[in-house]
Amino acid sequence: MMKGVILAGGTGSRLGKLTSVLNKHLVAVGNMPMIEYPLATLKKMGIKEIIIVSGAEHVGTVLQYLTKEHPDIDFTYKVQKEAGGIAQALSLVEDACRGSKIAVILGDNLYEEEFSRAAMQFDNSNSGTMLFLKEVPDVQRFGCAEVQGNKIVSIVEKPKEPKSNLAVTGLYFYDSSVFDKIRKLKPSARGEYEITDVNNMYVADGRATFNVLKGFWSDMGTYESRKRSEDFILSKGTEFFML
Ligand code: G1P
Repeated sequence: MMKGVILAGGTGSRLGKLTSVLNKHLVAVGNMPMIEYPLATLKKMGIKEIIIVSGAEHVGTVLQYLTKEHPDIDFTYKVQKEAGGIAQALSLVEDACRGSKIAVILGDNLYEEEFSRAAMQFDNSNSGTMLFLKEVPDVQRFGCAEVQGNKIVSIVEKPKEPKSNLAVTGLYFYDSSVFDKIRKLKPSARGEYEITDVNNMYVADGRATFNVLKGFWSDMGTYESRKRSEDFILSKGTEFFML
């Protein structure tokens, strides 16, 4: 069974005063804190061991909440001392993962679909990564994948002139070579260690696979995307997303 990783760091600046003292991932979406949705996505895969990465000022409250509400899950945590990008946050969990494959999810991503079959397929395969793409109208906000047949040609982070409308969403399955790849990274133009650069290394090795999502997907990290996600959650009923 893969181990799970929830990346719940960052400043949450795109949510303004909502995150003045509260961690972004505890902001309400529907009648649940945001982090419940990506956590449920991991739990539906059967994952029982989950590592939380968050900043020093928030990791305490996030863990307090999660351990109280989810006693069935074995949580550990890593503190991200400075915000250095998704790949930098992920580098912190290497020891905790001890060579097992991992399912990494961004703490502000909402998925309608469940991934237990995909997780089993990946766990029993030689793929290096499995990515989940979604057609979106605003791909400039995301990592954007150019695809030919069943192969990813390349991924560009926040492209000005996108080559497709396929966003790389915030759920990533990786084999244990991901940490060696992160060690080879250089900071991007925005000064971050980019998960997109890691994914492109798997593309270059020919070890990246992908699925295109049919169901609803959104981030929840801006006012607009949080509202859009909440509307969708309320239309389905919160129970739909929980176990
Ligand atoms: C991050 C990733 C991007 C991905 C997105 C999904 O963007 O860098 O590739 O498409 O999450 O939510 P960020 O939220 O850091 O702007």
